[in-house]
Amino acid sequence: MPTELTEADAANRLMRLAREIARHDRLYHDQDAPEISDAEYDALVRENRELEERFPQLVRADSPSKRLGAAPTSTLAKVSHAKPMLSLDNVFSDEELGEFVTRVRRFLSLPSDESIALTAEPKIDGLSCSLRYERGQLVLGATRGDGAVGEDVTPNVRTIRDIPHSLKDAPDTLEVRGEVYMAKSDFEALNERQEAYGGKVFANPRNAAAGSLRQKDPAITAARPLRFLAHGWGETSASLGAAQSLAMRAIERLGFPVSDLLVRCDTLDAAIAHYRLIEQRRADLPYDIDGVVFKVARLNWQERLGQVGRAPRWATAYKFPAEKAETTLEAIDIQVGRTGKLTPVGRLKPVGVGGVIVANVTLHNRDEIARLGLRIGDRVRIQRAGDVIPQVVENLTRDEKREPYIFPDHCPECQSEAVAEEGEVDVRCTGGLICPAQRFERLRHFVSRGALDIEGLGEKSIAEFIELGWLYSPADIFRLRGHRQDLIGREGWKDKSVDALLAAIEAKRRPDGPRLLFGLGIRHVGIVTARDLLKCFGTIEELRRAALSEGGEAELSGVQGVGPVVAGALVDFFHEPHNREVLDNLLSEVAPQPYVSDARATEWTGKTIVFTGTLETMSRDEAKAQAERLGARAAGSVSAKTDLVVAGPGAGSKLKKAEELGVRVVSEEDWAAIVAGA
Ligand code: IVH
Repeated sequence: MPTELTEADAANRLMRLAREIARHDRLYHDQDAPEISDAEYDALVRENRELEERFPQLVRADSPSKRLGAAPTSTLAKVSHAKPMLSLDNVFSDEELGEFVTRVRRFLSLPSDESIALTAEPKIDGLSCSLRYERGQLVLGATRGDGAVGEDVTPNVRTIRDIPHSLKDAPDTLEVRGEVYMAKSDFEALNERQEAYGGKVFANPRNAAAGSLRQKDPAITAARPLRFLAHGWGETSASLGAAQSLAMRAIERLGFPVSDLLVRCDTLDAAIAHYRLIEQRRADLPYDIDGVVFKVARLNWQERLGQVGRAPRWATAYKFPAEKAETTLEAIDIQVGRTGKLTPVGRLKPVGVGGVIVANVTLHNRDEIARLGLRIGDRVRIQRAGDVIPQVVENLTRDEKREPYIFPDHCPECQSEAVAEEGEVDVRCTGGLICPAQRFERLRHFVSRGALDIEGLGEKSIAEFIELGWLYSPADIFRLRGHRQDLIGREGWKDKSVDALLAAIEAKRRPDGPRLLFGLGIRHVGIVTARDLLKCFGTIEELRRAALSEGGEAELSGVQGVGPVVAGALVDFFHEPHNREVLDNLLSEVAPQPYVSDARATEWTGKTIVFTGTLETMSRDEAKAQAERLGARAAGSVSAKTDLVVAGPGAGSKLKKAEELGVRVVSEEDWAAIVAGA
């Protein structure tokens, strides 16, 4: 924020911010049609707050800071999915599709002459939905949510004509999954009607579908022309067929619409040809699509391939090229995130790209600005692909003479030095919790809906308590009760509101373990990863022990859903004494509930297995994945804590060590029997 800002400037800006933030609130909450990313929205809110702090006399009656924290939240009930609803990795070229097939071949250890058939079908730009039938009756319709937990939209899906309420000759339990969407023509007609009646106008069919399905009142959903197209299944009590396309035909016979562009391709060339065909037909299809989904045709291979992170190894989406537009870069703002990262955000002259107005782009980091040679005033080409935040792909005026843009070497929030560590592209504020932006962001994240979900502790209160010196780290939230009297005396607080807040805090003294872990804000640890980690380790203390132990990084990488990046972030986090202190401090105030796993426990749950030597019927990755499915961990080295060593031919020092330590050693064949019997 420039220091020379006059009071008149500030009043002007506050007026615009109030209007702009209110508009984005409406787009987000009422219309399911956000035009800006969460980070961009947060930057607007922060700017508003800072201006109000500097000019308290200018706080408006309609200031967003008076409403925030009370923003409407979804009131649909949450439901856990019996099987996770996965997302898809993307490929963007024929070569990358070829590499996908190569990875499949390698993972399954298939010979080079064994053909790998794929199914191909359009990737519909809609809203993923799971429909659960028990004894042939529709009992639940759920949105995807975070993949593990979605929202119950049963009464709403019952209003969609494509979705049968009962099935004949279906397995006792059957979850059909697919896309709820709005046809392009229906979307246009809906928007015309909405406009005529002065109702909400939707940005695109996807947002219209999402906004129509996620309604409290099913009568609204019923009045919207929603459709459904099946593309898979979740839990089933009986097999639907031996191959993807056969199972989809079975689903079609049960009465669900299935794409008539779903085909089985025996070769990579055939798969690419079908991609081209769907791309050609794209404009004529009744619904929006953003690519082609390829799935390994054989279901027994799908099963062996399993998943990595949130995405199956057996499927990928080949996305169509992104939509592009040209505009002017008007300003570069710097946002300071939870981890101190300085993120440059480009402010653009608003421009329409693929049906959405874009006014902000992420510029990622200092190197990206340098790579593009960006300066304020440049004409830029931007692109937007699917849900991804728009990006600048080209600077069209880099040869023109202009003032260079100098990336800050100090944090704009706390003036601490901002540096990039060796080998890192990101510039970070070195202020840690001294930096109000970092402190604020971390605390805000900690109490947010996905983490501890402390009702009533909104941005404004956090900022106020930081300012008062009451809040430094998360543990302090649980000590706010010591400030009850002081708080009651403050403007805007009454006995009732203070006690409601303190009660909401007390209610979280025994928080859900994964939410607490997620709330710590460890890089790359989202709620789903937090759940995966605690499924394996049970408690945060056990996780910390693993992260700090010798070979801990390898142990962590072995956890289902966790890769080397997350493992590295966890090791870094727990090695930092300050973080351990923050955690100990927090654990002296709260007692997280031990994680109760919903996975079937086997005798191998929590055991450590080491694979060594040559494996002949499977790749090392597959072996590891099998161990994880049994709830075990695959480790890289043998120690007294190892429970089993699977040794193939050529096993050397690890086998020797296992024998010395008296660890049970089995052959690959024995291992296959264990997996089959578990
Ligand atoms: S397969 C197991 N097939 O794309 C893999 N997904 O980016 C997950 N989608 O959440 C689903 N069309 O909502 C599959 N033909 C299709 C699809 C499709 C659209 C959506 C789906 C999923 C998202 C992943």
